Amino acid sequence: MHSFRSRPASIALLVAATAFQNAVAQFDPLSYVDQLIGSRNGGNIFPGATLPYGMAKAVADTTSGSNQGGFTLDGTPISGFSAMHDSGTGGSPSLGNFPLFPYASCPDDDIDQCDFPKKTRAANHGQFDASSVVARPGYFEVTLNSGINAAMTATEHAALFRFTFPSGGNLSHPLILQDLTDLSDSRQDNGTVSVDPETGRITGSGRFQSSFSQGQYEIYFCTDFSGSKMFDNGIFVNSRASTVAKDLTISRSINGYPLPGGAFVRFESVDVPVLARVGLSFISSEQACSNAEAEIPDYDFDGIEQAAADAWRQKLSPITLSAGGVDDSQIVNFYSGIYRTMVNPQNYTGENPFFGTGEPYFDSFYCLWDSFRSQIPFLTILDPDAVAEMIRSLIDTYRYEGWLPDCRMTFSKGYTQGGSNADVVLADGFLKGITAGIDWDVGYEAVVKDAEVEPFDWSSNGRGGLDSWKALGYIPVQDFDYKGFGTMTRSVSRTLEYSYNDFVIAQMAQLRNNTADTEKYLETSENWKNLYKSDQTSNFASGADTGYVGFFQPKFLNSTWDFQDPLWCSNIDNAGTVCSLQNTAHETFESSIWEYGFFVPHNQGDLISLYGGPTQFVERLDFLHDSNITYIGNEPAFLTVFQYHYAGRPALSAKRAHFYIPRFFDTTPEGLPGNDDSGAMGSFVAFSMMGLFPNPGQDVYLIIPPFFESVNITHPQTGNTATVRNVNFDPTYEAIYIQSATLDGEPYTKNWIDHSFFTEGKELVLTLGQNESSWGTAVQDLPPSIGEYTGFNETLSRRTASRNSGPRYAPNFRRNGLGIS
Ligand SMILES: *[C@@H]1O[C@H](CO)[C@@H](O)[C@H](O)[C@H]1NC(C)=O
Ligand SMILES: *[C@@H]1O[C@H](CO)[C@@H](O)[C@H](O)[C@H]1NC(C)=O
Ligand SMILES: *[C@@H]1O[C@H](CO)[C@@H](O)[C@H](O)[C@H]1NC(C)=O
Ligand SMILES: *[C@@H]1O[C@H](CO)[C@@H](O)[C@H](O)[C@H]1NC(C)=O
Ligand SMILES: *[C@@H]1O[C@H](CO)[C@@H](O)[C@H](O)[C@H]1NC(C)=O
Ligand SMILES: *[C@@H]1O[C@H](CO)[C@@H](O)[C@H](O)[C@H]1NC(C)=O
Ligand SMILES: *[C@@H]1O[C@H](CO)[C@@H](O)[C@H](O)[C@H]1NC(C)=O
Ligand SMILES: *[C@@H]1O[C@H](CO)[C@@H](O)[C@H](O)[C@H]1NC(C)=O
Ligand SMILES: *[C@@H]1O[C@H](CO)[C@@H](O)[C@H](O)[C@H]1NC(C)=O
Repeated sequence: MHSFRSRPASIALLVAATAFQNAVAQFDPLSYVDQLIGSRNGGNIFPGATLPYGMAKAVADTTSGSNQGGFTLDGTPISGFSAMHDSGTGGSPSLGNFPLFPYASCPDDDIDQCDFPKKTRAANHGQFDASSVVARPGYFEVTLNSGINAAMTATEHAALFRFTFPSGGNLSHPLILQDLTDLSDSRQDNGTVSVDPETGRITGSGRFQSSFSQGQYEIYFCTDFSGSKMFDNGIFVNSRASTVAKDLTISRSINGYPLPGGAFVRFESVDVPVLARVGLSFISSEQACSNAEAEIPDYDFDGIEQAAADAWRQKLSPITLSAGGVDDSQIVNFYSGIYRTMVNPQNYTGENPFFGTGEPYFDSFYCLWDSFRSQIPFLTILDPDAVAEMIRSLIDTYRYEGWLPDCRMTFSKGYTQGGSNADVVLADGFLKGITAGIDWDVGYEAVVKDAEVEPFDWSSNGRGGLDSWKALGYIPVQDFDYKGFGTMTRSVSRTLEYSYNDFVIAQMAQLRNNTADTEKYLETSENWKNLYKSDQTSNFASGADTGYVGFFQPKFLNSTWDFQDPLWCSNIDNAGTVCSLQNTAHETFESSIWEYGFFVPHNQGDLISLYGGPTQFVERLDFLHDSNITYIGNEPAFLTVFQYHYAGRPALSAKRAHFYIPRFFDTTPEGLPGNDDSGAMGSFVAFSMMGLFPNPGQDVYLIIPPFFESVNITHPQTGNTATVRNVNFDPTYEAIYIQSATLDGEPYTKNWIDHSFFTEGKELVLTLGQNESSWGTAVQDLPPSIGEYTGFNETLSRRTASRNSGPRYAPNFRRNGLGIS
């Protein structure tokens, strides 16, 4: 679907223009960003114009049932052009407030004959040809079948739209309307809009429903026009308009909502394009206007676009690669994934009407359950300053609201999906040395509160069932919890996630020299073991035995077992099982017991032993993937791709990564396997192709060969460049197995590295071959685990061990798992 990309023409020009000034310009990462990946088939990405983390996000909105990111390429028509969006989310669409819609003229020059309501204008005037779509960083363009071309670009809090009309109409007074809807038609009492008769400035506000929470938010806008001379203006309600009335306060509904209402401006001529500058604010209309005036003072469309492109180029250029002959689509896949890690969360600093603390404020954490796994860890490498601001914002949210969020959008507490996974985000940043401006004492207080204090409403704060957790060491199915309230499901996945949350708190405690807390949370991090039922079997729906024994199972308060089919909520569960946050759902969230059966990121040693040793562990992991039990389109699958490392088979992680990329992640509009989830899928692609995958919340990156000959990553703070380079690189990916490695010139046999690789700019050289080797397979080469690695192939490990004369057994967390005593 390369035809949807603007890349060939526009980028070639851009490179040529800058090449004289800058030798680095030969490689422009922006030429490899395709924002339309995931614009069909449920990717739900935002493909429009935005700055990195920008609040303003301009795009055309379609009427698709999958329009969470605004625009889709699925044949549905355009209902408007709006400037607030999220990216990749599921559930109800967020934002999409105050869309514009253009007409070259109203029939008979009669405003009442223009189509104002969203539904009819989309159906009658919203069709477009997919080949007219142009998307590149900081820019989006589409031509409606009416002949009107809409181009748009964005600054932090404002968007600039340029509407170009087909020439030659008679009675042509082009009209641009702006209405008080949002994508999900959630407007509440009372929307207001005013148009200034002299200038045509439209200001207004509305109160809307937050998309994945019970909260509401108020948002303000300020729209000014430039270009074609103004003819007249007014307001509309439903299908009728007036040039006499200039102000409107509209109720939510009379007959279903929202009642269409808004303002419009008409222009003298179609011969000059109209520029519409839309400023936004969560504070006031005045601030929306001043944001727009400050950021887009002179309607310089090309200059604004250039500035946006430059901002993106600056973010993406620390990563360079030598492709080594792989197809360009692989490079596009890589940079587009990286690009999407910086669309959300959004920087609302200066727009928070509530906290007033002067701290940075980031919104659209949607949700941390998705992004803690690889998106935020990716930014920790590429944009540690931004992560520091995000962490400050999370801590400030704790300060103001009393709790760290799991999910947060439009200033509302979103629903918690499992554990208190902000703990992992904080710990990951803490142990990777993210410090700038962060009060880690308050950060530590916040994660400890998650572990210790039961919130009254744990559907969107902290954790539930803490009395049982502390007394029994697990979350019981049908818990008795009279202190706090939330959906009483997910007892198995919550137990597993709480265990890991406690582990990362233990790590923070250890780095803070808090021995008591270290011991305490290390102990509770072992609670996952309490739900392991060693004789549990698993049958397919057909009744056939999967052949595996030993699974996590729900347990009652009285310590007897309940039963949940280990394949419920797996990718091959076709029985219509309810698996999300519904109160009829079961004991694992959006994933099966089979898949959650690997979620013990801190103690793979003991898990491998429970599963019968490394050979059986590997067989089980293969079975999970090869039987389609797991689905790479949801985040719990991510780490399972690389967990072969823990069984001493890093080659199989490499093989598995190539199994999924590009098969499940390609560069077409339908190229994502599920919702991008705020860039989570993008980060999976980026990390996998870079050849280093994090175990989030630990100072561990699992090594596979990059999908390119070499990748350089320059740390934005230290300026040091880390390199992963393949020797014997094979662009056909037949030779994807590491035979040997060196780190800064010294032989390196560990199958993982730590974060100093990036900050200190080390060089990892991997020599590849077509067959699995003994590299990274010995017990002492494995990543840290609390429990020891036992039952490993003694022949293999002894052979490698003697060569390395390294420690015989796994790094033990208490001794040296963190490299501290
Ligand atoms: C001009 O208006 C007349 C009458 O409405 C219509 O028949 C004709 O098609 C219009 N011409 C153009 C170029 O729009
Ligand atoms: C909406 O506006 C009407 C008319 O001014 C007013 O009576 C009503 O109280 C307002 N509702 C809210 C929720 O502000
Ligand atoms: C990576 O960095 C090394 C050393 O700094 C340099 O020699 C090499 O050209 C760089 N490669 C790329 C693809 O930027
Ligand atoms: C967030 O926005 C504030 C205010 O505009 C700005 O100072 C800060 O640099 C932004 N942070 C990032 C990471 O872009
Ligand atoms: C913890 O102890 C070590 C060793 O004494 C010391 O270097 C470090 O600064 C201490 N960390 C904190 C946060 O106090
Ligand atoms: C334990 O509780 C479950 C659920 O209430 C009940 O079905 C079971 O009979 C109880 N078992 C014992 C031994 O009390
Ligand atoms: C897994 O799903 C793929 C299609 O996505 C199919 O080709 C394959 O046969 C399935 N494998 C099994 C074991 O069901
Ligand atoms: C790789 O293994 C295959 C058998 O799986 C063998 O035929 C081949 O010779 C091996 N290649 C090398 C380079 O060892
Ligand atoms: C142990 O490793 C040797 C050498 O690679 C291999 O031949 C043998 O099959 C392995 N045994 C087990 C139990 O994995």
